[in-house]
Amino acid sequence: MSILQTKKLTIKFGGLTAVNEVDFSLESGHIVGIIGPNGAGKTTFINLIAGLHTPTSGSVFLDGEDITAMKPHKRARIGIGRTFQLIHPLENLSLVENVMNGFLFAQDFSVPKARKAAVLLCEELGLSRLERPTSQMNILEIKKMELAKALAVNPKILFLDEMMAGLNSDESLEMISLVQKVTRSKNLAVGVVEHVMGVIKQLTHSVVVLDGGEVIAQGKYEDVVKNERVQSAYLGGGA
Ligand SMILES: Nc1ncnc2c1ncn2[C@@H]1O[C@H](COP(=O)(O)OP(=O)(O)OP(=O)(O)O)[C@@H](O)[C@H]1O
Ligand SMILES: [Mg+2]
Repeated sequence: MSILQTKKLTIKFGGLTAVNEVDFSLESGHIVGIIGPNGAGKTTFINLIAGLHTPTSGSVFLDGEDITAMKPHKRARIGIGRTFQLIHPLENLSLVENVMNGFLFAQDFSVPKARKAAVLLCEELGLSRLERPTSQMNILEIKKMELAKALAVNPKILFLDEMMAGLNSDESLEMISLVQKVTRSKNLAVGVVEHVMGVIKQLTHSVVVLDGGEVIAQGKYEDVVKNERVQSAYLGGGA
């Protein structure tokens, strides 16, 4: 049973249809790759699900409930978490304070309770020296912190928008294992946007390909990469 569904989800920015009649679904415990060329509509699609954009037409359902008109803050509270393609750690806050903010944003936690929860979550993700300012953290630690911030809303659904960008191959492997571990332990439904096909191949159970806002292919990675439309729209260009 899918926990998240979109039906003919569409958004137009002026004359540009950034997301065009997308039917999509996610199941708990599954990781779906969302791939496609620059400007295909991947981030816009996540923003529509998180409630940052209002669709021109179409609907979003969580657990069968129509949440198309729900505000982003409320969507976070009912279980939609995401990381951002452009990350913006609060630099004058420490690691633990950044993660605490996630708990304070989406759950009715007191500050001491948020701190306790943030410390536990950081430990689970292998983050230490929690009082450090973010300026003293390396890129892998920053990415783990962004994952922690997204997990702090206690999501059922998690979207990761180019989480691995900027990581070397060892660091990517570590993030892949971590995402797999939290997906299993928290039974999450995960949508992953990445341009590195090796990451998509290792991490995902299935793949959806967007081009010009439309789904042009979906299925298992091995089949999707052989698809002619996917080859010419995305992979053929050497991406
Ligand atoms: N707020 C906005 N106003 C107008 N146009 C927008 C807005 N947000 C996105 N777009 C346009 O919508 C299209 C899809 O953009 P989007 O950022 O979703 O692509 P993407 O698949 O995430 O690309 P990338 O791989 O480069 O991150 C692009 O043409 C973009 O310029
Ligand atoms: Mg994007």
